[in-house]
Order: sequence, then C-alpha cells, then structure tokens
Amino acid sequence: MNIGIDKIGFATANYVLKLADLAEARNIAPEKLSKGLLVKEFSVAPVTEDIVTMGASAAAAILTEEDKNEIYMVIVASESGIDQSKASAVFVHGLLRIQPFARSFEMKEACYSATAALDYAKLHVEKRPSSKVLVIASDIAKYGIETPGEPTQGAGAVAMLITNNPRILIFNEDNVAQTRDIMDFWRPNYSTTPFVNGLYSTQQYLDSLETTWIEYQKRNQVSLKNFAAVCFHLPYPKLALKGLKKIMDKSLPIEQQEQLQANFEQSILYSQKVGNIYTGSLFLGLLSLLENSSTLKTGDRIALFSYGSGAVSEIFSGQLVAGFKQQLQTNHLEILNNRTLLSIPDYEKLFFEEANLDKNGSASFTNYENQDFALAEIVEHQRRYIKVEK
Ligand code: HMG
Repeated sequence: MNIGIDKIGFATANYVLKLADLAEARNIAPEKLSKGLLVKEFSVAPVTEDIVTMGASAAAAILTEEDKNEIYMVIVASESGIDQSKASAVFVHGLLRIQPFARSFEMKEACYSATAALDYAKLHVEKRPSSKVLVIASDIAKYGIETPGEPTQGAGAVAMLITNNPRILIFNEDNVAQTRDIMDFWRPNYSTTPFVNGLYSTQQYLDSLETTWIEYQKRNQVSLKNFAAVCFHLPYPKLALKGLKKIMDKSLPIEQQEQLQANFEQSILYSQKVGNIYTGSLFLGLLSLLENSSTLKTGDRIALFSYGSGAVSEIFSGQLVAGFKQQLQTNHLEILNNRTLLSIPDYEKLFFEEANLDKNGSASFTNYENQDFALAEIVEHQRRYIKVEK
C-alpha cells in the first residue's frame, strides 16, 4: 500500500521583521545574521494569531468539502499550546467544519512531534485505506528581546493531508529514531519563553543527525547516493547547512554533490523569510524544496531529518509521485513578499503583547482583518475564534 502526503499547505502571520533592522537595533554586525545564521526575515504573530488560527488557515488552503467528509483524524503537533487541557486540534476541527465522527488531539515533543504524527497517520490509513488524516504542525517561536535566539524567532503552520495513493510523496518504510534525555532547550509551564543552552543544542542537533544517519543507512542498506535531496529541521538554515556538510559523501560524483547542495538551497528559501516554526520547520523546508526546485522528478527519493530538543530525532524518506507539481497550489514566495513590514518598536509591541484580561477573565481584540481566522475574544477564560469574513 502507498501512503503519504496528498496535499500540503502553509500559513504564516502577516507581519514581518527584517533581520537587517534587528541587527542595527541590537548593534550586531548584519553579516552575523545573514551569513552566520543564514536568516533574512521572520514572521511576527500578533495576539490574535496563534497555533489554532495559523493551523486552520494552512489547512483551509488545501481542503475541499469532500476532504472534510473523509478526514477521520486531526492531529496538531505543537509546543506552543494555548491550553493545558483542551487540544488545539479540537478548535481547528470546529473552525474547518470537519465531519463530527473524527478523532482530534495534540502531540508534543519540541520540534519533533509532527514526524511522530505522520507515522501515526500512516498506521491509521493502513488500517482504513479510505480515510484521510489531517496533520498540522503549528508553532510560534518566541525567545525574547535581546536574547541570542531572538534572530531565530518565527511563526507559521504547515498542514498535510495523509492518504492512500497520495499525489505528492509516498512514505518509505524506513524510519529510524533516536531519543536522548538532555536539556538543550526546554520551556517550563510557568515561562512564556524557552530556556536554551544554545551551543550545546547545536552540538546535539549535529551529533543526533550524524549518529541517526549512520544507523539509518545501516538498517536500510542505502547511502546518500540514493537521494535527490535531504530536508532538515531548520532552527536556522546555517545549522542545517552544517548538517548537510557533515553527512556529505565526498566519494559521490561532483554533479550529485552539487545537486544535493542546490536542492538544499531551494529547501531553505521559505525558512529564511519565516524563521523557526518549530514543529513545522522541517516540512516548510520540504514545501520550499518542492515548490522551487526545477530538477526534482518522479521517483526521486527525499530524506527528512527531524529534530526536537529534549531530544528526539528521526530520519525517514519519501518518494516523489508522478504529477506532484500539479498538487502544489502556489509559490509561497509571493505571499511572503506581501506581509506588512514592521519597525523595531512595532515588532516589540506586537510579538510580545499578552491578552489583558479583565476581572471576569475576558478580553476582546481588534485589527485582525488581514487574517483568515482570528482569536476575536476571550470570554470568561474561553477562547473564541472566528473565520474572518472578507
Ligand atoms: P549566536 O550568539 O548567534 O552564536 O547564537 P555565534 O556567536 O556562535 O554566531 C553564530 C554564527 O555567526 C557563527 O558561525 C559565527 O562565526 C558567525 P559558526 O561558527 O556557527 O559557523 N558570525 C559571523 N559570520 C559572519 N560575519 C560576522 C559574524 N559574527 C559571527 N560578522 C545560537 C547562536 C544558535 C546559540 C542562538 O541563535 C540560539 O540560542 N538559538 C536558539 C537555539 C537553537 O536554534 N538551537 C539549534 C539546535 S536545537 C533545535 O534545533 C531545536 C529547536 O528548534 C527547538 C525545539 O526543538 O523545540 C531550537
């Protein structure tokens, strides 16, 4: 049975900060961000945008009414949860009017959990081949003003429809995962921003990649020569570039090494403009690759490296399906170029604004006309979302 990604959609917040402006404000050499981290811009989410609104928007962009009647499971993978109890997937299910007899829940393990969600979706479709599973990876990466992580913030969601006989990418049966109980990046319940051992986290990312890749090749009897491209979790693209160099097989023909490098460059285009979106970063890289590479063809095998701090990593792969380009709706570079540019004071106000609840636990919000879905109000501690009429 062939199971995999039938549709893939993306949404981000409609405000953007240029990292050249951030570098100037923070007295950092701009090249440190543009060359040292390979980042250019990041999306800034206002208080009316969260994992539910972006997740619903990413999914709404790809789903038909027929899909909504055939979805049996909605999984939101996130580490930016909006409630300790109610899953964001339940809000998304409601906003999208998906048929009622569906299972909806949230999954968490830092940036990794969407990869586990895809594997669970695959198992579900194996048992019920006519059903579809909606997997959404949605997050807001917020490190705080004047922290080392500040240039790597971002916001966005990737939605994937997992089906039998998919029209974009067939998953191979080759996943290899690794777990390490470490403290490289974590966010206790009482903190709105994460604690980070920055350098240690980068070492763990690279070492997890190298060791999982060795095991993956051994168990699956493959090597880099079998792949047209490798997509990486993208906390910032420079770290993934270091990862590619680490696993690059110098004995490959130079043309293949160059092709892997060229496809890598296509895979980071969106991340360079959106920033880290945690669970969605790897899949934003895949989308960027699929929409922008001119060399990919039917049957090409793409490897994916997923990494979530804490830490869990996994490598798996997929095979491109004939006609996959027709399933991609739009080139997202255009959408990204239409976001509203923020000044530094506006970014500092917008990104870090918290809901100001009155004594009843209520607040109402404005200025969400440029969103597809919005957190419109909180009424006695209940979040109320709307589809924005245009
Ligand atoms: P930093 O202060 O920017 O570090 O923090 P740096 O001083 O080492 O500089 C970065 C690079 O810029 C270096 O290059 C410098 O040489 C270079 P490298 O040595 O790495 O090749 N540089 C320059 N280049 C050109 N011109 C210049 C110049 N100056 C310096 N003038 C750090 C970097 C990653 C620590 C910080 O951004 C951070 O804390 N980020 C958050 C944590 C993170 O992203 N970790 C990544 C691995 S963990 C992960 O991926 C999981 C995560 O997504 C969360 C989850 O799973 O939920 C984060």
